[in-house]
Parts: sequence; structure tokens; C-alpha cells
Amino acid sequence: MESLVIQGGNRLKGRVRISGAKNAALPILAATLLSEEKIEINNLPSLEDIKIFISLLQELGVQVTPASGHETGSPLQIDSSRISSFEAPHQLVRRMRASILVLGPLMARLGRARVSLPGGCAIGARPIDLHLKGLELMGANYKVSEGYVEVKARRLSGAHIYLDFPSVTGTENLIMAGVLARGDTTIENAAREPEITDLVEMLNSMGAKIAGAGTDTLKIEGVRHLSGTSWAIIPDRIEAGTYIMAAGAAGGDIEIENAVAEHLDSAIAKLRAAGLRIDCEHNIIHVRSRGRLKSVDLKTQPYPGFPTDLQAQFMVLMARAGGLSVITENIFENRFMHVAELQRLGAEIKIEGRSAIIRGVKKFTGAPVAATDLRASACLVLAGLAARGSTEITEIHHLDRGYENMEKKLRNLGADIVRVCPDTDTEQ
Ligand code: UD1
Repeated sequence: MESLVIQGGNRLKGRVRISGAKNAALPILAATLLSEEKIEINNLPSLEDIKIFISLLQELGVQVTPASGHETGSPLQIDSSRISSFEAPHQLVRRMRASILVLGPLMARLGRARVSLPGGCAIGARPIDLHLKGLELMGANYKVSEGYVEVKARRLSGAHIYLDFPSVTGTENLIMAGVLARGDTTIENAAREPEITDLVEMLNSMGAKIAGAGTDTLKIEGVRHLSGTSWAIIPDRIEAGTYIMAAGAAGGDIEIENAVAEHLDSAIAKLRAAGLRIDCEHNIIHVRSRGRLKSVDLKTQPYPGFPTDLQAQFMVLMARAGGLSVITENIFENRFMHVAELQRLGAEIKIEGRSAIIRGVKKFTGAPVAATDLRASACLVLAGLAARGSTEITEIHHLDRGYENMEKKLRNLGADIVRVCPDTDTEQ
């Protein structure tokens, strides 16, 4: 098992380039199932989650070139003209919940899908009831047996769907189900994340008729056929937000390139309130951090509110800020797994229900810690940069799911961070 070893204390300086957004790439890869024509995808990040999703597409009979996966920045060609299976098997779904994103397109294209139930995961129960209720309203039937959900419909029909909660992948699945359905579909209380807008714009470039992207009401006019396209994925706002906070944790002066600042409005507002100097021009975010940050309270919310995927990283800053802050997690019920690890470095945090009450301390001291999920692992990297002495982070396979070359990018900014393979005892 590989680990990361960080000698904390170096200030960050220089430029870092943001990769394509994982959470936009996954639904866009799923959407390639909707067309019989060839599709080219650009700016795909090279990440574990993307590799798993490509394996899932191949399992369904999709031709992917290059078959072994793409290099960072090189395009991926996808040909879904001959789908040979409608089943997302357990061994892939259990590695990545977002595999559920094949449900909507398989229903649209084949009227049938069998997907292993994602089940619980480290950050809460995460059911898929909203995906299934929406498909039912469009005329599908489903049953659950042997750990799989099997959904069938002759041809999906347009429907009026109100989501009880603006689920991100739920909205994406229902958009993809609606584009080839007979008649019109309206999705109310839809999620408004920029990744959904990217998916909608890609589908419209293929001939879909979807209006309202970025608002909470989406109107979809079903069409009979979608053509091919060439699409470039938007930059990853969560990766950009993580580097802004890395500068806040370690101190420094960095430029974040290929970032869309408007996608981070709520996070930037909070970070400015905490004392970071952030200037945005074109596609560059310039961050300067000097002295101790101030404590501010925070609540996670669906977009455009503060993203849950940056909550753990923000907690690192508050754990060393001057004062008391309360962070409330409103999206997932069990997303404070990182707290126990931060306490090992000296953080003073108490959890009460959905809130973490944080008294900022002047210093962290390096310690061995274990990553528990994707964003928690990024938070531990930031904490290690801020700590005095050495921090070793194990279970970093979580980090590799969603951050491209994080230790290389940080090393270029002046951080002392290495990946260690214990089997060979080598640094990489
Ligand atoms: C997506 C993101 C993830 C992010 C999350 C919230 C992807 C691949 N993942 O996950 O990084 O943290 O949005 O911004 O884009 N819920 C239900 N029933 C459902 C669906 C969801 O009750 O059918 C609940 C969930 O348990 C959770 C909340 O809704 O409490 C939000 O989940 P959702 O927006 O669906 O998250 P994901 O799409 O899984």
C-alpha cells in the first residue's frame, strides 16, 4: 500500500494547472451511450474513477480508443453503436457509486438496465430512490433482487418530475432518460451544479433539446436520435478550491490556472471572509495568504451554496484559525470521518449532530493518519502541509480516485511531499 509523506512548513509559491472535472467527466462518459455515432472527449482527467467508468462502458460493449485508456490531455474516442449488455456488474459498481449513471442512458437506449445496488458508503447511506421514482413516472417498472435493481420500460414517456432533493446524479440520470423519451419532460427542484450544465450543453450539441440548465427547472423535449459530437470537459472546481485552500493551509502566493472562478463563488466569498486574498482574472485565480486566518461559520448546501466536497478541506483552515467556528454538513449525514484524523495532528473539534465545533489551534504537529474517503484524503494532505514535522497519510487510493498528480502539482509549488511504496521502500 502506497502512502504520502509530507514534511510540513513550506510556503507554496508558483502556478498550478487544474485538470478536467471528474464529476463532469463521469456523466458525459455515460451520455456517450445515448448515441450510435462516434463521440470524442477532450480534457478528461487521468483518474482512477475515470478508468473504472471506462471499464464499465467496455463491459457494456462500447468501443473505446485508446482501449487502454487515455493519457492526460489526449482525446478519447467512443463508439457506442453496438451495446451488447445492459448490466452494470457488482465488481465495478462497488468500486464506484457513480456507476449508477449508466441507468438513465441504458433505459433511454435499450429500455432495460440491471445495475448492482450501490449500497452504503463511507459518507452516508446514499440511496437511489429519487432516480427510480423519476424513471417510474416516465413509465418504467423496477424490481430489486439479488443485490441488483432491474428496470424496464417499452419506451420511456415524458413526465413531470419533482425531486424531493436536488440530487446531482439523480438529475443527470433523469436528463439522460428524458432526452430520447416520447414527449416532454420537466424536472423541478433539479440540481444546478456546473457539471450538470456541462452535460446539458454536450447533449444539446448532439441534437438534444434541453432548456433551463443552471436553474432548478429543466425542460426536455424528447428527440428520436442523437448524433456524435466532440466535447471538452470543464475544469474541476473542487480541485481548484482544494488548491486555494492549500495556499491557505501552508501560507503562500500561488496562481491557479485553467479555473472557472464563477463556479467557486460561494467558496471564494467564505475564504475571503476568513482572510485569504483572492483575485480572479480570466481563467486564473491568484491566492495570497499571510498570517493567521479568522474563524468563520459555514453550512454546506446544494450549488450555488458551499460544496460539501470542499467541507473537509475548509475544516483544516478553521482548525488553525483564530477563534471558534461551526461547520454544518447539510448534504451527507456522515461526512466528518476526517475529524478523528485531524485530532491526531492536534485539532480541537467536537461533533454535535450535523455540526462540527472547531476551536482554532496555533499549530498542528505531524502524525501518521489514514484517509477515509476522497475529500477527507485531500484534507489530510492540506493538514500535513500546515503541520510541523512529518505526516504520513495511508489509504491514499482514495486520493487517486479524484486528484490528478496531486503530489507532483504540490511539489511544483514548493511542498515537501513524496509518495512511498513500502514494498520496495522507494520514493516516487
Ligand atoms: C454528487 C457528486 C459528489 C457530491 C454530491 C453532492 C458525482 C459523481 N458525485 O454525488 O461528489 O459530493 O453530488 O454535491 O457527481 N439522495 C437521496 N436519494 C437519492 C439520491 C440522493 O436521498 O435517490 C440524498 C443522498 O443520500 C445525499 C443527498 O441526496 O444525502 C445528495 O446526494 P446526491 O446529490 O445524489 O449526490 P451524488 O449525486 O451521489
